[in-house]
Amino acid sequence: MALVSAKEMLQKAKAGHYAVGQFNINNLEWTKAILLTAEELKSPVILGVSEGAGKYMCGYKTIVGMVNGMLEELNITVPVALHLDHGSYAGAKACIEAGFSSIMFDGSSLPFDENVEKTKELVATCNELGMSIEAEVGSIGGEEDGVVGMGECADPKECKAIADLGVTMLAAGIGNIHGKYPENWAGLQFDVLDDIQKLTGDMPLVLHGGTGIPDEMIQKAINLGVSKINVNTDCQLVFAEATRKYIEEGKDLQGKGFDPRKLLAPGTEAIKAKVKERMEVFGSIGKAE
Ligand code: 13P
Repeated sequence: MALVSAKEMLQKAKAGHYAVGQFNINNLEWTKAILLTAEELKSPVILGVSEGAGKYMCGYKTIVGMVNGMLEELNITVPVALHLDHGSYAGAKACIEAGFSSIMFDGSSLPFDENVEKTKELVATCNELGMSIEAEVGSIGGEEDGVVGMGECADPKECKAIADLGVTMLAAGIGNIHGKYPENWAGLQFDVLDDIQKLTGDMPLVLHGGTGIPDEMIQKAINLGVSKINVNTDCQLVFAEATRKYIEEGKDLQGKGFDPRKLLAPGTEAIKAKVKERMEVFGSIGKAE
């Protein structure tokens, strides 16, 4: 199946009270592991690409080529969206041009009026091309690929104003943070989330910083209208751990254990297991059948 917009899968998720995972990709192994797991579990999936990861993977066109090739060669039949994560205005334009099926324009650090203006323009372009678009209000805490947010909570009225521009999905800061959560983290602000969902109605809400949020909080967030959950650090952690174990056990020194196809295999399998575990918690398994 060719790449799809995230619109239909997220509207279904919102109506069905589950969430679709956005798993960020970093290379071929990541992409293959996520696509194969989604196919095996018959789950819709969103592949997230940060601007930094985009540069690392030799640009958006390279990524589009790789992902489209895999969809065909791996016979992927479940819905897959290729989505720019925390895009700048220029990054959003570049991904539209390169053949992504979905973008996030993160104007949360801009003055609100400018966020509105640029989001509006990109909504029009995405509508024309049948692409989905995510906007953000209230920055997500922590740091991801050089994008640093202080973690303020979104103003529900601003969320409503951005939702009314016709975006497909809305990311709202509710105390969530990219990367590992600190010991003294106050948790998700469910009262703010509830206010946002009451004002934005059917709009699928997006929870960034999916790594390390306790499962019962994830469940509660889904009950309050979250339909897309972003996961990045979790896959990086399990990949690194499995790769370290392989090397510490001296397996790269045995036979042809240094062959990258062998060296990177435990990390790839670890990503598959993590994606499966998260999809179980998000409730998306079997939803692409
Ligand atoms: P984590 O790295 O905390 O899982 O967050 C991912 C994310 O929100 C991508 O936008």
